[in-house]
Amino acid sequence: MESSNAVESKLIFPVASPVVPMPPSRPPTPTAAQSSERVNSPAPGLHVAIISDGNGRWATSRGLPRSAGHRAGAEVARRIIEAAPRLGIHTLTLFALSSANWKRPPAEVNAILRLLHEYLLTETLHCVEEGVRISIIGRRDRVPATLRQAIADSEAATSRGTRLHLRLAIDYSAREAIFHAACRFYKVTELSPESFSRVLAEVYRGGSTEVDLLIRTGGEQRLSDFLLWECAFAEFLFVHKAWPDFTVADIEAALEEFAHRERTRGALPDALAG
Ligand code: IPE
Ligand code: MG
Repeated sequence: MESSNAVESKLIFPVASPVVPMPPSRPPTPTAAQSSERVNSPAPGLHVAIISDGNGRWATSRGLPRSAGHRAGAEVARRIIEAAPRLGIHTLTLFALSSANWKRPPAEVNAILRLLHEYLLTETLHCVEEGVRISIIGRRDRVPATLRQAIADSEAATSRGTRLHLRLAIDYSAREAIFHAACRFYKVTELSPESFSRVLAEVYRGGSTEVDLLIRTGGEQRLSDFLLWECAFAEFLFVHKAWPDFTVADIEAALEEFAHRERTRGALPDALAG
């Protein structure tokens, strides 16, 4: 059998320390004080994760290069990030670049990486002013060194932000994160789901918090290796619109729909719980 050291030596993830504590998740069911109509009140603390899909098709259908779709998508992301705190979103995780996206032509991947770099350079100060804390989740060893530096600078500059935790998933694969966390877990003495979550947060940084609502634009209905562990009890909403057409009104509508979903997490719905 392979020793844990041998397993460890294969790991290519940089380790962040100290371990990021897992914020408490929201209660599974509403309190009596909440209206029976609005099952999930948009109280502060919502974690919304978005798979912002459809950029390429949006551009192609307009006779534009795919990179134009990514640029338009980046603009939409700016607007959604700006609106998030007043919509009761405390953590927003955006799937900017999947590890699987390396299979795309280098020119397209580079265009996406450039947009991310541009976002960090142009928005970090604004994020500091707005109380937005930026974290990048995902691998950092395969992105350009200049982007890696910009990530470190933005994370350091915004680390005190408390209005919104903005997590950008770059070169992210949930399956890889879980695998590497499992390898690392060998060394943890107190074995529990909570301590595993902490190790998972350590592997990819940026914390590991339960997703309340996962939105995917672009019409596809799949998770694409995004937040597999964190979405265990998430509500899913698949939107037909391509990401560049998504608006603040659309996310408001998504939150309204979420508010009417009853989240039982395996327990009985309130009406039957007695
Ligand atoms: C999602 O849009 C954005 C990223 C993957 C970065 P796509 O590029 O997947 O767009 P479609 O799905 O091809 O239209
Ligand atoms: Mg796609």
